[in-house]
Amino acid sequence: MWKLKSSNDSIDPTQERSAACSRPYALITGASQGLGRALAEECARGGHKRVGMNLALVALPDSGLARVARDIEERHRVRVEHLEMDLTAPGSPEALHRWIRDKRLPVSVLINNAGVGYNRRFEDSTLRENESCILLNNLALVKITRLLLPELKHHSRGFVLNVASLAAFFPIPFMPVYAPSKAFIVNFSLALREEMRDTSVSVSVLCPNGIRTNGECQRKIAAHGFIGEMVSLNPDQVAAQAMRGLWAGKSIIVPGFINRVILAVGRHAPSSLVCPITSAFYGKTAGRRCPA
Ligand SMILES: NC(=O)c1ccc[n+]([C@@H]2O[C@H](COP(=O)([O-])OP(=O)(O)OC[C@H]3O[C@@H](n4cnc5c(N)ncnc54)[C@H](OP(=O)(O)O)[C@@H]3O)[C@@H](O)[C@H]2O)c1
Repeated sequence: MWKLKSSNDSIDPTQERSAACSRPYALITGASQGLGRALAEECARGGHKRVGMNLALVALPDSGLARVARDIEERHRVRVEHLEMDLTAPGSPEALHRWIRDKRLPVSVLINNAGVGYNRRFEDSTLRENESCILLNNLALVKITRLLLPELKHHSRGFVLNVASLAAFFPIPFMPVYAPSKAFIVNFSLALREEMRDTSVSVSVLCPNGIRTNGECQRKIAAHGFIGEMVSLNPDQVAAQAMRGLWAGKSIIVPGFINRVILAVGRHAPSSLVCPITSAFYGKTAGRRCPA
């Protein structure tokens, strides 16, 4: 007599484990929450004729990263390694590289997502806030990319996705260091992309506007009312558009039609016009901490 198989019966766990073992890894920084976590889900899910990727996730200690790793591993049947570290601490990019090498993780996708910033007057900021912004958004990103590049080149296709922001294209009062740190990421990514043109490595830079990630960001989006809501997206929407753009080899990925219009128009406007607008917009929420 024929017995109907349940969906679980049809999966041979041994075959599945060995298939997962042979897959390449995506290394994602800042993956415990927000956009980083959504990007991890998107890589593990696969889709667009791609199988789910194994993951190597990094975030600050005590961020619940272990729980996130186990959860993704169980739901998507991929392998997920995780490392808790402060990427602004001296020597941490080198320690991250050693961890990848010692575990022999075949990393073909690098996603530099971790980033911080503050939204307040420069004269009210602390030296530590400014230092953390530059150390994480720029120095750690450059060092991790440099250290991982030889590994990425080993693969028939390697990818780098650097997370910047739409803020990268404008002078932004009340975010006087964050916005330039993201401009650095855009120009670094475009330059590296050109250098890698004849190699197997493709470099893209993601420039989102508001993302409804942590509570602070959501409160700020709400404070901007209708305009805030119109230009903002959920983390999974941004992650899906980011990965589509990355696989397609796009140079600059701006999620959301309205945000692409803002960039196209705003880029050519004189700073004498842009500054008062960005000042009014970001001055409204100044005083609260938020990465974007
Ligand atoms: N949210 C927005 O509106 C927006 C807009 C444009 C661009 N972006 C960019 O998108 C990226 C992600 O933003 P998000 O809103 O998802 O941020 P988030 O929710 O605050 O998450 C940031 C992630 O980075 C980790 N992280 C922070 N400092 C770190 C450090 N020193 N070392 C290692 N990991 C660290 C955090 O770990 P913990 O969980 O332990 O804190 C967390 O996993 C950032 O680069 C941000 O600038 C965000």
